[in-house]
Amino acid sequence: YQAPTNTYTIDNLLSDLKSAKRIMIVSGAGISTSLGIPDFRSFKGLYAQLEHLNLKDPQKVFDMQAFQKDPGVFYSIAHLVLPPEGKYSMLHSFIKLLQDKDKLLRNYTQNIDNLEARAGIEPEKLIQCHGSFGSASCLTCRNRFAGHKIFDHIRHQHVPRCSTCWKTVQEAVITHGVIKPDITFFGEDLPKRFYGLLEPDCKSCDLVLVIGTSLKVEPVASIIDKVPRKTPRILINKDPLPDRDFDLSLIGYCDDVVSYLSQHLGESWKIPHPSYD
Ligand code: OAD
Repeated sequence: YQAPTNTYTIDNLLSDLKSAKRIMIVSGAGISTSLGIPDFRSFKGLYAQLEHLNLKDPQKVFDMQAFQKDPGVFYSIAHLVLPPEGKYSMLHSFIKLLQDKDKLLRNYTQNIDNLEARAGIEPEKLIQCHGSFGSASCLTCRNRFAGHKIFDHIRHQHVPRCSTCWKTVQEAVITHGVIKPDITFFGEDLPKRFYGLLEPDCKSCDLVLVIGTSLKVEPVASIIDKVPRKTPRILINKDPLPDRDFDLSLIGYCDDVVSYLSQHLGESWKIPHPSYD
């Protein structure tokens, strides 16, 4: 056991970024807010925008039991978090840069916007812990569709239904043939890859960057506690997380923080400007 050190500085981080070979990134909604997608728990986040639904807990909009009772509630608000097409942020571009430098061990993202994939993060390097809008499935026949096929329904707040199952409508079952984005709702299991890779990744990573997340939702919230104490743990976030133990907290907008780091790391660390299609 090595006691936590409070002497880790930004210079240590710059030098660790240069030498690291297996960086683990744990990311959340804050890495996409610069694109206009709200996060969940900030003052103007999604959950604050749901007061009109009069839910005891706004997280219920992502609850599987609630969805099975009335999928219309989720589809009345899903447009608020629908990812913009063909856009990603400076921070996504920074993760891609780490991948290009062969330094990215894995990006554990809680984001459902699928923008990491759009920025070019390879499937093998990416764990979408809470699934994503990238695909969608029929709850009845389990047929899988490309996510964008239901984007128009989402924009118009309609419940999308599978054309095969639609023919055999059973009025009694409200979710018969309903298509749901492959987002992991509360009450559903995280992807198997998450559980398969987590332990070896935590053991073998040499630097952990936690970016744009409040670390409020398990099991992602506990990932950093599984990392050996000798591995530096860095927070890059708009708000501090005083209850959690980091070697260094860089408080600010994550796009600005990584731009600052990149400027101090040298020419080969220039973050390619996000290119949109
Ligand atoms: P939260 O909304 O809980 O936290 C987002 C964090 O990002 C906050 O601490 C903000 O301070 C920070 N933040 C916002 N904008 C930022 C910026 N530009 N730069 C840096 N930091 C910024 O979102 P998550 O932690 O991602 O589950 O939430 C985790 C899960 O809770 C989500 O995956 C979602 C939700 O219920 C599902 O969708 C199933």
